[in-house]
Amino acid sequence: MKMRKPIIAGNWKMPKNRDEALQFIYNVNMNVPSREYVETAVCAQAPILRDLVKRQGDHLRIGAQNMHQKTEGAFTGEVSAAVLKNIGVTYVIIGHSERREHFYETDELVNQKLHQAFRHGLTPILCVGEPLEVREEGTTEEYVKKQVQKALKGLGDEQVRDLIVAYEPIWAIGTGKTASSEQAEETIAMIRKTLSTLYDGGVADAVRILYGGSVKTHNIEELLQEENIDGALVGGASLKTKDFLAMCETAQKLKA
Ligand code: 13P
Repeated sequence: MKMRKPIIAGNWKMPKNRDEALQFIYNVNMNVPSREYVETAVCAQAPILRDLVKRQGDHLRIGAQNMHQKTEGAFTGEVSAAVLKNIGVTYVIIGHSERREHFYETDELVNQKLHQAFRHGLTPILCVGEPLEVREEGTTEEYVKKQVQKALKGLGDEQVRDLIVAYEPIWAIGTGKTASSEQAEETIAMIRKTLSTLYDGGVADAVRILYGGSVKTHNIEELLQEENIDGALVGGASLKTKDFLAMCETAQKLKA
């Protein structure tokens, strides 16, 4: 049995207005596994986070999908880590490939955001993953390793121990093309090895590393059975109550 506590996190992206999101929370609250065994979360749009936190119940937690890297200043339209913390948000996704691609987030920016999230007591979910060309070229390892090294620059043991990493190959996101469990395990084991070269042994063993990219109810079990895969960051399939709960149950079953 794995020692690390599994995490099933939904990344809702833009879908779900306030009413739909509250209905989802209401439907899943009584049935999500105990936090003692599995951490569960949904990451929603910023304007509805407070309402979701208020109704999150005993076990489910709420995450943001992004935040700004600075503590304060004239940054019209941005959301600060301090406010996310203040309204009771637990997790924040940092460096999702959609932010890297459409909003030009660099590894340096991702690094600043990680520092900022820790400064404010948020648990970051750092996303890394290669585009299709890189996978086809056979340079996934170098590509992802560099993303991890740059993202973690200057972070200490205690911070990284609490970090969650999500390996999300870009070619598997929203495409229905999941990485095979062997491909996912291979890259995730490499990420853990990279962590062990940067931090004390115990840190690499403690960090939870998730897989993301077309995770569905029918493929999650195989992925979670891999030694280094500690959970999933789920897009489309996390929007349906039934599917989200089924994936949480699979994580709990494998943990038991
Ligand atoms: P899908 O599960 O819809 O492929 O999305 C994955 C993702 O981007 C999670 O962050």
